[in-house]
Amino acid sequence: MNKKVSVIGAGNVGATVAQRLAEKELCDVALIDIVEGVPQGKALDLTEAAPIEKHDAHLAGSNSYEASAGSDIIIITAGIPRKPGMSRDDLISTNAKIMKIVTKQAAELSPEAILIIVSNPLDAMCQVAYETSGFPRNRVMGMAGVLDSARFRAFIAMELDVSVENTHAFVLGGHGDTMVPLPRYSTVAGIPITELLSSERIDALIDRTRKGGAEIVGLLKTGSAFYAPASAAVEMAESILKDKKKILPCAAYLEGEYGINGLFIGVPVKLGASGIEEIIQIKLTDDENAALQKSADAVAELKALLKEIA
Ligand code: APR
Repeated sequence: MNKKVSVIGAGNVGATVAQRLAEKELCDVALIDIVEGVPQGKALDLTEAAPIEKHDAHLAGSNSYEASAGSDIIIITAGIPRKPGMSRDDLISTNAKIMKIVTKQAAELSPEAILIIVSNPLDAMCQVAYETSGFPRNRVMGMAGVLDSARFRAFIAMELDVSVENTHAFVLGGHGDTMVPLPRYSTVAGIPITELLSSERIDALIDRTRKGGAEIVGLLKTGSAFYAPASAAVEMAESILKDKKKILPCAAYLEGEYGINGLFIGVPVKLGASGIEEIIQIKLTDDENAALQKSADAVAELKALLKEIA
């Protein structure tokens, strides 16, 4: 039997996630949305592309959570996206309400599933999903670091005119302006970028990475990025479905790691069949540590805001 992944929210990110999961033939996909006809229409359209794309993944669209029952993974993209001038944090009250409803219904029908949260503000939405589902921390995670480091990698490749495949990048912290890209762990064919680029150019690439989401929002005007976010969520799902044990930066609930307690924040984790199998702790310099703590403070403020609006 094929593995099953449910994608909640059949908008730009959700539909693209469904497409990539199916076209990589990783699993069957249930696409769920509240808007009548949309998940059904998109699932049917993707099914009709299957003979050309050459996959036998089964796609089903529904407005009912029943269709998500028995999922191995649930990817939550439901919510409203950013508009120009909005920060990810401005979405908090609307998306927290949606996240609660969605998690409750989906988690009840798939009690063994692994939750991958995509909706923003990411770290706070992970907190809502974690508390609402009651799942253990290895089965609740957020997609942010894979996207942020993919953006950093794309900018490094453009700057040095090299293949993106040669690039690796490391981004820690919350998914927001306080994210912490680590240049000394970011490499091209194993060579740290600190040996290939001036500190001014590295700073410029880091700044563009931090504002990567806003740059796309500014261009699209009516929504936020979805191709790269979908790719990032699918890379996480693939590592879990195939038990690949990739080390990927993900939002994880920390209980003392990196000196942070009781918060979701981006850290390198090992992703395998049981979800987060290990939180990888690396030694940070004093400056890096200070930047991570500052990022954790920003996430803690959002967590406090969640309590106020609950
Ligand atoms: N249950 C199911 N689906 C819902 C619910 C709900 N309670 N509320 C909203 N949705 C659906 C909407 O109907 C819509 O189809 O979520 C979908 C969101 O899709 P888009 O508006 O296209 O937004 P998208 O670009 O996909 O972004 C979704 O991901 O990257 C983040 O910041 C982004 O929080 C946003 C989320």
